[in-house]
Amino acid sequence: MTAICPGSFDPVTLGHLDVIRRAAAIFGEVIVAVGQNSAKNYLFDAAERVELVRAATAAIPGVSVLPLDGLLVDFANQHGARVIVKGLRFASDFDFELQMAHINHTVGGVETVMLPASSQWSTLSSTMIREVASYGGDVSAFVPPLVAERIGARVNSQGKERTNG
Ligand code: PNS
Repeated sequence: MTAICPGSFDPVTLGHLDVIRRAAAIFGEVIVAVGQNSAKNYLFDAAERVELVRAATAAIPGVSVLPLDGLLVDFANQHGARVIVKGLRFASDFDFELQMAHINHTVGGVETVMLPASSQWSTLSSTMIREVASYGGDVSAFVPPLVAERIGARVNSQGKERTNG
């Protein structure tokens, strides 16, 4: 069975990878859908986020990565997937995901399965990683090595741009 793991992945974290790995173990095939959330200010553009998620999931059997434009349920139906998998950390995730699950079921007939985040990653967020990284902090405990490297390079080049006016 094919499941979709959607998200912004800005950047992809070890928490995301844990959920993707567990979803692949349950469903066999997982398509990671790398989307746009209009409310967000992105560190990496869509193509870079797809590239980084691809690199980070390359060794996980059954996982492919595609960009998501438009509605998630249309994407799921186009790819023959009946299930969306979401990782849940705390109650506020549940409140939001429940709303999304209802609307995605009503609009597209797609089910949502929520997996509790592993305790090790249960408070991790891409937002916090972006915040720490923007001040030059070390985020290598939370992201794959390639992502940490890219974040370092991005933050360095932004720092230089600021210094140069
Ligand atoms: O990591 P995020 O920012 O929570 O991911 C959000 C994403 C991309 C999964 C979500 O915004 C999404 O599904 N976007 C596609 C548009 C859509 O179908 N929205 C849900 C119905 S309101």
